[in-house]
Amino acid sequence: MRDASVCSAAIAFRIPHPTSRLSMNQLFSRKPIAELLAEGAGPFALKRALGAGDLVMLGIGAVIGAGIFGAIGTAAAGQYDAAGHLVRSGAGPALVLSFLLLGVACALAGLCYAELAAMIPQAGSAYAYSYATLGELVAWIIGWDLILEYAVGNVAVAISWGDYFTSLLGSFNVHLPVWLTTGYRTALLSPDRAVHDLLQTAPHVAGVPILVNVPAFVIVALITWLLMLGVRESATANNIMVTIKLVVLGLFIVAGLTHINPANYHPFAPHGFRGIHQGAAIVFFAYIGFDAISTAAEETRNPQRNLPIGILGGLAICTVIYMIVGAVLTGMVPYTELVGVADPLAKALNSSGFTTVGWIVALGAIVSMSAVLLVFQYGQPRIFFAMARDGLLPAWAAKVHAKYRVPHMTTLITGIFVAVWALVGDAGETYDLTNIGTLFAFALVAIGVLVLRYKDPDRPRPFRVPLVWPVASAAAVLCVFVMIGLPHQAWERFAVWLALGLSLYGFYGYRHSTLRRTPAVREP
Ligand code: ALA
Repeated sequence: MRDASVCSAAIAFRIPHPTSRLSMNQLFSRKPIAELLAEGAGPFALKRALGAGDLVMLGIGAVIGAGIFGAIGTAAAGQYDAAGHLVRSGAGPALVLSFLLLGVACALAGLCYAELAAMIPQAGSAYAYSYATLGELVAWIIGWDLILEYAVGNVAVAISWGDYFTSLLGSFNVHLPVWLTTGYRTALLSPDRAVHDLLQTAPHVAGVPILVNVPAFVIVALITWLLMLGVRESATANNIMVTIKLVVLGLFIVAGLTHINPANYHPFAPHGFRGIHQGAAIVFFAYIGFDAISTAAEETRNPQRNLPIGILGGLAICTVIYMIVGAVLTGMVPYTELVGVADPLAKALNSSGFTTVGWIVALGAIVSMSAVLLVFQYGQPRIFFAMARDGLLPAWAAKVHAKYRVPHMTTLITGIFVAVWALVGDAGETYDLTNIGTLFAFALVAIGVLVLRYKDPDRPRPFRVPLVWPVASAAAVLCVFVMIGLPHQAWERFAVWLALGLSLYGFYGYRHSTLRRTPAVREP
């Protein structure tokens, strides 16, 4: 591996003066797959240290977290505003059907990810795939969109982590000042009067209330430091955390099964299909992450075999666990009691008399969310890294650390971005944004598979989606269908985010793209 400064100098050398005129052909230039593969083996190569087992663990590490420990309650009970008006319906006990719907949608999308990830084992995930299939503009949109999934998603998880941590300390009678555990946005948006009043009662500096979620900030800082040490160390830590979370969910299921009240299953679907649909759009957050392991493609041994096993294996395990947890939870307590509950699994256990188990599960939730933070903080820098390597982001972002061989610049920037937002942000605000961005990326990946099958049918595919036309089409349609279950506000914010990204592309990426500066500009 070359010294990092040599790498970045090489990239800088390839950036010519921006003089060319915009043309549709250039916007839809596609990156040859051979070039993508060569990058993974060239001077910018990352260390290949991960096997199939590591990937399944990495997938579970990314998936089981704030969604199943937190959002599941709102998905069952629905969401209400400060005045008590219904914002959106929940699924009720039919939550298991929401999970099933999402399991099918994600499995179909997962197959598409597996085909592209095995064919293009490169660090940028959906970004890299779309560069090869749908062209540079779409690739930029996806890369920008993936920030919603990884970095913004991690803001929500970090805040949720902080909340669980604070309440766990509380059960040991350790009470931190509320203004040090509550972000400014949370106080501002909360329908809970006591929380909202913090805007007045918190200490003020120059007239500004000091409301910060210090635990959320600290956990992101710790995870970032771990990732700076290199992938192998991080994967080992992840394996330990995944084992703990599986044991804890197993404990919840076993304890909960002894306290099922069949009456709680009636009515089974109180809001009909609308409730199942909107519940699915909320709890989709629980599935986000199985695709994150495709960002480890360049650090995977034998990716052609190991990536499909990792993606689909992890997804199958999580779907089964979610359906069982959903059935047990809605059997233990009436779904109406889960409105606005931040820790529904612990609440269900406590109200069934399992206080010790409830305490252990809360601890497990903290561990689970740490694992999610780890995998997402791992994935985001590698997408930035791939984009910088292509000239769509500044060259210094593609630096690889000379000793640890990790993209340390982007790891650090991601850490700062997530930690600072989590310090003052609100979890609820970021869940929907993450869901809509991720579903959009899934749909584009599915379309990308079809485009590549059509344009390049003879290219060797180590893993092929079975019945690709119906399967990939159904994946795209189902993802858009789940998106439709999200509220208007999420769509509006998503549109603003995309507009911002397109402006950045116009100002920077378009002018600095290395692909369009090389002599052979690719065909649209
Ligand atoms: N699926 C991840 C979680 O639920 C993002 O925390």
